[in-house]
Amino acid sequence: MSRCSIEKIFPPTREAIARAARVLRDGGLVSIPTETVYGLGANALDQEAVNKIYKAKGRPADNPLILHVSSMREAACYAEINHKAELLMHHFWPGPLTIVLYSLAVVPAVTRANLDTVALRVPMNSIALELIRDAEIPIAAPSANKSGRPSPTTARIVYEDLGDSVDMIIDGGPTSIGIESTVVDATEGAVTILRPGGVTREMLERIVDVAPGDDPEIKYRSPGTRHRHYAPSISLSLWDGEKTDVFSETRGSKWCYMGLREPLPGSVRSVVFDSLEEYGRKLFSTMRDLESCGAEFIIADLPDDSGLGEAIRNRLMRASMDDDIG
Ligand code: TXA
Ligand code: MG
Repeated sequence: MSRCSIEKIFPPTREAIARAARVLRDGGLVSIPTETVYGLGANALDQEAVNKIYKAKGRPADNPLILHVSSMREAACYAEINHKAELLMHHFWPGPLTIVLYSLAVVPAVTRANLDTVALRVPMNSIALELIRDAEIPIAAPSANKSGRPSPTTARIVYEDLGDSVDMIIDGGPTSIGIESTVVDATEGAVTILRPGGVTREMLERIVDVAPGDDPEIKYRSPGTRHRHYAPSISLSLWDGEKTDVFSETRGSKWCYMGLREPLPGSVRSVVFDSLEEYGRKLFSTMRDLESCGAEFIIADLPDDSGLGEAIRNRLMRASMDDDIG
């Protein structure tokens, strides 16, 4: 486990967790490790604390937050739980699945960006769970990056992005999945994947009916998916493994590469992963590393969309977008 001495970064001792719980109860911001990415946490029931999250991230106010709770029973205090949601919770909690359900009135409008629904998840990270239990409040936590930037997978990256505005960062080491949770809408009808993530479509389909993935209307149902996101500071071009145009279009400019397949020769630096899991785990940190390797752009290999490939494709496509969808 990494140990940073930078002010505000704490190892996950009992004392640090108890102190973080107090900061949260007092309306402060604490960055917490989860199995997916680091979150920027605040008391989800405290309007002012939640406003600090939006301000620190520079996050658009139309993008609602996930409530992190420690059990199904606790989730039932904040949302209307139906049979499908119960099945999903039994199979995938704790874990990287966020479930959108009709909200109960106790959840402040600012936390859910004025929607009538709320997103809930029980993370599979013992530090996060201990903190939620200690604080005895639901923790609203988006990924702890500046809005639009790649999500953070280490405490040090959180510090670089948000060090000025966060009260405490708990260092749980690098996150194990590295890509965010799958967000599903389980309010009515078939379960709809709003954002692919750590729990794959195939895993969900074994448990419930899942709406097909090619519905263009879906991007407007999850506010977060309307915005350009996950983007490194240099541009990103995608390679589907077939046409090599993307390499010939480099025209003398410096480029670097990340992906599963071997690239054509000529890169300033190339990072080749052994598996989809490794690609997912290192996707965001590699984007950040490659920003400073002296290249003008990154060529990223687009995996096919089975398993975790759907989530990796989604992040890469949004990182390569020129602008917001709307
Ligand atoms: O793995 C994760 O999900 C991480 C860790 C920290 O838990 N969190 C995370 O949060 O990625 P954030 O805020 O970066 O992404 C949450 C996504 C956004 O796309 C947001 O629009 C969507 O969930 N969302 C939240 N509440 C929603 C709701 N009521 N209806 C539809 N989409 C919602
Ligand atoms: Mg995010």
